[in-house]
Amino acid sequence: MKISLIGYMGSGKSTIGKRLAEKLNQKFIDLDVYIEQENNETIQEIFSRNGEIKFRKLERDAMVKTLNIEEDFVIALGGGTPAYYNNTELINERTFSVYLRLSIKEIIERLKNEKNRRPLIAHLDDEHLPEFIAKHLFERRIFYERANLTIDVNEKTVEKIVSEIIQNLPPRK
Ligand code: S3P
Repeated sequence: MKISLIGYMGSGKSTIGKRLAEKLNQKFIDLDVYIEQENNETIQEIFSRNGEIKFRKLERDAMVKTLNIEEDFVIALGGGTPAYYNNTELINERTFSVYLRLSIKEIIERLKNEKNRRPLIAHLDDEHLPEFIAKHLFERRIFYERANLTIDVNEKTVEKIVSEIIQNLPPRK
């Protein structure tokens, strides 16, 4: 089964995805890493040289390519992937999608230390980060909530989250 992980920056999509793929014996794809490899540039470089609109196009193209892969995989999508084009429709058509839901408070805590490699928040100081995240998450939530499965990830270990996902997988997709 193809499984996609969605959720806000910092919600653990890459870490959980890697472990889930290992457990299921499936290939793991990190969409951000895939975009960087395809374009020979880091996400930060793409944003600063070409802007967000171009990034969203490259992200869309990379997503379509990966969703067309025949074998089963687990994919960690970017925090913004479901919010552009008809990406959510495609994600739900081709994969079993899982929303990793993390509280705003915890997102802020995690992202404070990880701002630099995330171009959308790199320019914000700690004082302005909470307001930005609250608004942004509000806009994104409608897309995340269309996932096939939602898992609350607050205060849970990676192992616990992975086993909850496995327990809730449908018989076939
Ligand atoms: C983005 C999230 C990032 C990356 C890019 C834009 C977003 O991925 O795709 O910086 O719009 O939320 P992660 O969610 O893996 O940090």
